[in-house]
Amino acid sequence: MRFEPQKLIEGCLLAGVGMGVHTAFIYVRGEFYREAEALQAAIDEAYAAGFIGRDACGSGWAFDLHVHRGAGAYICGEETALIESLEGKKGQPRLKPPFPANVGLYGCPTTVNNVETIAVVPTIMRRGGDWFAGIGRPKNTGTKLFNISGHVNQPCTVEEEMGIPLKELIERHAGGVRGGWNNLLAIIPGGSSVPALPRSMCETVRMDFDGLQQAKSGLGTAAVIVMDKSTDLVRAVTRFSRFYKHESCGQCTPCREGTGWLWRVMERITEGRARLEEIDMLDQVTRQIEGHTICALGDAAAWPIQGLIRNFRPELERRIVAYQASQSKQAA
Ligand SMILES: Cc1cc2nc3c(=O)[nH]c(=O)nc-3n(C[C@H](O)[C@H](O)[C@H](O)COP(=O)(O)O)c2cc1C
Ligand code: SF4
Repeated sequence: MRFEPQKLIEGCLLAGVGMGVHTAFIYVRGEFYREAEALQAAIDEAYAAGFIGRDACGSGWAFDLHVHRGAGAYICGEETALIESLEGKKGQPRLKPPFPANVGLYGCPTTVNNVETIAVVPTIMRRGGDWFAGIGRPKNTGTKLFNISGHVNQPCTVEEEMGIPLKELIERHAGGVRGGWNNLLAIIPGGSSVPALPRSMCETVRMDFDGLQQAKSGLGTAAVIVMDKSTDLVRAVTRFSRFYKHESCGQCTPCREGTGWLWRVMERITEGRARLEEIDMLDQVTRQIEGHTICALGDAAAWPIQGLIRNFRPELERRIVAYQASQSKQAA
């Protein structure tokens, strides 16, 4: 998968004309310095060629495109935190309503999209909406960028049809699971915020919204993390918990306090230093966070743990029992 800034610029212009807007911003995470540089160079070229600017493509339509580099906060990907950050403020999500479509950047109606959504616009315009809607399954149409990482032979990012079976996606594009499919432990199909699926479910699940919802996981960012049997899955999910604790902006009590609480309990369970009842308590706390916060970061912290308890509970219990047995032995 090659990054093609030209498609993104063209997409911004087309979407801009479609929505009747004259200014667009591309918000790039601060660490992606070279990518922002390459994008800016492409934008400069587009201005010089007259594709964008005062008279975009000689159409009489004024269209300006700005690149804004963030400072590396994950939460600034959330649309209203992104708007706050663009306005020069601390990147904290806004309460909705009002939604950005009514009151967004500098109080103006604003649409926030992923660059993937915008970059596919030129192809849809050329080939037609029916063509794009004809790919995939009903209500789950089009293509998707799948980023496949972890224990595969060839990690990659690939654009594929929505609804492609997960196993086929990995075998066709990522060279299969390291050590073969039977060496697979679990797959996180949509980035760190969605529940991991055990191998048995990965056999048949389809990579689209409905397919993954049925499996009680989610398509999320379509970042597929493959973990073979050498992985300590409980430790991996604990690491996610630490990440969400670190990235919480702290506005909402359930998220600010809850993410830290989840992380600390997960740390103890990883080592087995917990009581069996705490597994259910942990699940209950995730449900107090889920749906009770301003933005979906709270849900993102809750879901991987819920998935771990649902799909891998025996492993959590095994650690606790083993730890208790080792303590009794020492005491004897
Ligand atoms: C904590 C959090 C982080 C997010 N990070 C990103 C991000 O990095 N990039 C992104 O496009 N959307 C991110 N989103 C989703 C955006 O709020 C928004 O829904 C999305 O950009 C809409 O684009 P789309 O409709 O084109 O997918 C994030 C949401 C949350 C709650
Ligand atoms: S859910 Fe977390 S990250 Fe989102 S606004 Fe509330 S405290 Fe901030």
